[in-house]
Amino acid sequence: MSRPRVIRPVTSPFDATAQIPGSKSLSNRALLLAGLAEGTSVLRGVLDADDTRAMAGAIESFGATVDADWETGTISITGIGGAPSGPLSLDANQSGVTGRFLLAAAAVGSGAIEVTGDEQLRARPMTDLTGALTALGARLETSATGGLPVTFASAGLTGGPVQLPGDVSSQFASALLLAGPLTAEGIDVQLEGEVVSTPYLDMTVEVMARFGVEVDAFGAARYGVPPGGYTACELTIEPDASAASYFLAAAAVTASTVRIEGLSTTSVQGDVEFAEVMAQMGATVRHRDNAIELVGPNQLVGVDIDMRDFSDTVPTLAAVAAFASTPTTIRGVGFIRHKESDRLAAMVTELGRVGVRAEETPDGMIIHPSVPQPSVVQTYDDHRIAMSMSVLGLRNPGTRIADPGCVAKTFPRFYEALEALHPDREPLVVVIDGPAGAGKSTVAKAIAERLGLLVLDTGAMYRSVAHSALTRGIDLKDWDAVGDLAAQLRIEVDAGQVLIDGVDATQVIRTAEVSQAVSVVAAQPRVRELLKHQFRSWMVAQGGGVAEGRDMGTVVFPEATLKIFMTADIEERAKRRAAESPDFSYESALADLGRRDEVDSSRAHDPLTEAEDAVTIDSTALSVEQIVDEVIELLADLVRP
Ligand code: DC
Repeated sequence: MSRPRVIRPVTSPFDATAQIPGSKSLSNRALLLAGLAEGTSVLRGVLDADDTRAMAGAIESFGATVDADWETGTISITGIGGAPSGPLSLDANQSGVTGRFLLAAAAVGSGAIEVTGDEQLRARPMTDLTGALTALGARLETSATGGLPVTFASAGLTGGPVQLPGDVSSQFASALLLAGPLTAEGIDVQLEGEVVSTPYLDMTVEVMARFGVEVDAFGAARYGVPPGGYTACELTIEPDASAASYFLAAAAVTASTVRIEGLSTTSVQGDVEFAEVMAQMGATVRHRDNAIELVGPNQLVGVDIDMRDFSDTVPTLAAVAAFASTPTTIRGVGFIRHKESDRLAAMVTELGRVGVRAEETPDGMIIHPSVPQPSVVQTYDDHRIAMSMSVLGLRNPGTRIADPGCVAKTFPRFYEALEALHPDREPLVVVIDGPAGAGKSTVAKAIAERLGLLVLDTGAMYRSVAHSALTRGIDLKDWDAVGDLAAQLRIEVDAGQVLIDGVDATQVIRTAEVSQAVSVVAAQPRVRELLKHQFRSWMVAQGGGVAEGRDMGTVVFPEATLKIFMTADIEERAKRRAAESPDFSYESALADLGRRDEVDSSRAHDPLTEAEDAVTIDSTALSVEQIVDEVIELLADLVRP
């Protein structure tokens, strides 16, 4: 499992074109049909993700030739021109849609064919589908719980009428439709009761048409599929509308502008409806030629909405709703309790974890306006929970995503695509300047921990130069000699440890002697110039961080995201210094601080001054917790539209 991923908040609105991969649903349908078709198909824009790789692997297993350039998403497939024949084992990995489509494809095949998947997929329901296949005459054996692995011992299927509940997963019905042309007489699929996710059925019918099969749809509940098999075709896959929802949402919560190219309201993907929901919440949605553009409002309002037809975007909406001025009610989606996770429970729990009040209802959830807090959110091995909570993190500093790698199921480059939205692509840099003993290092450490960043202790770097000069007997006033020394030294400051040329110097740079010497060394322009470049390279290499020192906000990082200037009464600082260092009494600490304050603020080069755009925090009477809360709150303010 990968380390939690820090989501970098958006601190100024962006105007960006989102990088959305191809539709998972279209890719998987097209891959299967190309594998079953007669001839060679060329698919473009195919999604490269675990789910589609699983399908590509499966069609290869049953004999299709797959020539894939996953980087560009162009795949040539020569199909088997009919139904698969065993003995075979087809592995769907974690992909529910792949597992279900393969079940139907195996059922119309002949010989011993096993369909299996990983542990999570084995636990997902299959009985409505295996029941329907059995009713059509398939001979099969399921696992003890009725799920995968399922083993078929079929000799093709005759076809005919078949019933299926309409309110479970449309994947079951799509699976039957897709296999229909490979039965001897075709099938007549009837969906009973309420029908959910009909746009996915429309999509199935549309892709089948591209592969030469015309389905007769009688409303949303009855479909006549003729026999005859599939013919190869060329097909360009649209960007994934569910994946696009995270980027529409990202712009909506940060008052930003985003464009999704290749997607329009006429798309066969039901999840494009999500853009309309954002419009209802106050976003401006423009339909361009073959693109959707969304501009987020300054304030979102809540909605009351039935999402049964685009339920994959429920977690996305739940995350957005936290920032609305009124509650949001989501209805009609009780069935999403059986996705990769129980998505209603997962979102209610994780929103709660970051301080957003949400409650489950029998068929959905209610989200109340809240001010979220930093936290590590859990993701239940469910890509949609990880991606939705990441959107929340764009406006909630300190949001970290546990097991971030789970997004690979459908969107391996999700975090890169999210990062690419940031206008400046500058890292998140928090600087804390102030006099010695103001509490900078303790606070810097605590803030960095909350934000998942590292601390750059610049004072330790100056101390390292001073310490090295002292041990080598270099005259501190000899600027050339001290400058040469600084240029030679390799100083590494990492996670509270200081190494000078590979030797641990964490303790020795804190002595009273070094504290005396450091102000003299730090007054030298060449030393300052050298270290300044090292500080900047460190920040670029780390991709952001918390830097503490004297001139971080004024000289080294003038473009920092947030600048804090920490002060405290000198008596309080002396008390702290004496308490933490055996080298100082209260009196000697008072004298040392007085002298250093004077030198640090009166030197000619980069003196200690407060940056104009810094926020002053007087730590005299505040606890570390209170200061950290205040800093996080300041960051959150930057993030609010
Ligand atoms: O933060 P500290 O007490 O460890 O810093 C030691 C000295 O280094 C301090 O007296 C002034 C100097 N310093 C500086 O001039 N510029 C910085 N950015 C950091 C420290």
